[in-house]
Amino acid sequence: MNEENLIEKIKQLSKKYSSTGQDLSSYLDGLLYADYVGYWNYIHLDTLLSLQNPKTDFPDEQIFIIYHQISELFFKLCLLEIEHINKNGRNVIDTGEDLGWNKKLTIDIFIQKMDRINRYLNNLINSFEIMTKGMEKKQFLKFRMALLPSSGFQSVQFRMIELRSTNLAQLYPEKIQATSKSLKTMYNNLYWKHGAIDLKTKKKTYTLKQFERKYDERLMKLANKMKEKNIWAKYNALNPRDKKNKTLIKLLKEYDVNINVNWKLAHYKSAVKYLKNKNNSTAATGGTNWESFLPPKFQKIIFFPDLWTKKEQENWGKSWVKSILK
Ligand code: HEM
Repeated sequence: MNEENLIEKIKQLSKKYSSTGQDLSSYLDGLLYADYVGYWNYIHLDTLLSLQNPKTDFPDEQIFIIYHQISELFFKLCLLEIEHINKNGRNVIDTGEDLGWNKKLTIDIFIQKMDRINRYLNNLINSFEIMTKGMEKKQFLKFRMALLPSSGFQSVQFRMIELRSTNLAQLYPEKIQATSKSLKTMYNNLYWKHGAIDLKTKKKTYTLKQFERKYDERLMKLANKMKEKNIWAKYNALNPRDKKNKTLIKLLKEYDVNINVNWKLAHYKSAVKYLKNKNNSTAATGGTNWESFLPPKFQKIIFFPDLWTKKEQENWGKSWVKSILK
């Protein structure tokens, strides 16, 4: 770097630090003594590899834990893009440069974000065989008893994806009409709240109660915040020309099917593989009546209803369910 460029860089740095009342020369002192960053430190490799703590000695339990962690990281990747759509972009540090995150939600950015989200979800859907084919059933049926009453049902990121994607009324069970205006009533009637009810006692499962204690307040706040910011609301607020954009519509439909049909079916397949026998079904760790709760054709959750015909909505998830249960 020549001297002129160097001076220019120092001026830019000085501007950055003085804009927050800080002193550049102190930071330069720090730089003088700071060590170089190693890859292992940058990505916290040791910490990452220390996060798998099986409860049993069955080797396949590690696969189960790692794939859940991978799924949560992919959910996080999805959420980063979804949040960008929800927030219309946000300026984090004022460097005066265009770093890509403070842009308005133009149609091009909307398309770019949806494209990324679908890529992440396609990876998750295609890799679910790690669960369905990659563990010994005998081992699974034993080590699962050590994780009671926890269940992937308690994935808060999955619920955040839903709340950031559409209106609460779209997350209702098919047979219940979303008539209430109260946020609390709406939230308490979401499909998964009805799904985690013990059929015999008609009471909430402990897995649901545990989840509610930890996350209800946070999720209800999010639901309130997302009223006009969720993906469906953002799409509806586009100008009439952009709303007709074929690429965006195709990506939104792909997303709807990816989350609400394809991922759910890939996941359901693993429940069928491990929990279903010829004559009976094994109770799930979360205690739901999973055979009537998990299939997308029963849940019928559709984020963006107006993008589908009546017939498509009626047949939501049906053909896929048949092919899995054959
Ligand atoms: C062998 C692998 C798996 C089996 C047998 C399985 C089984 C189940 C069952 C039976 C349920 C219903 C709730 C309950 O009663 O527990 C459920 C829900 C759920 N699981 Fe899994 N699961 C597996 C892997 C995963 C993975 C890798 C994830 C990723 C994070 C995950 C996330 C979820 C989510 C988000 C729900 C709620 C789904 C909804 O509300 O429609 N599961 N799982």
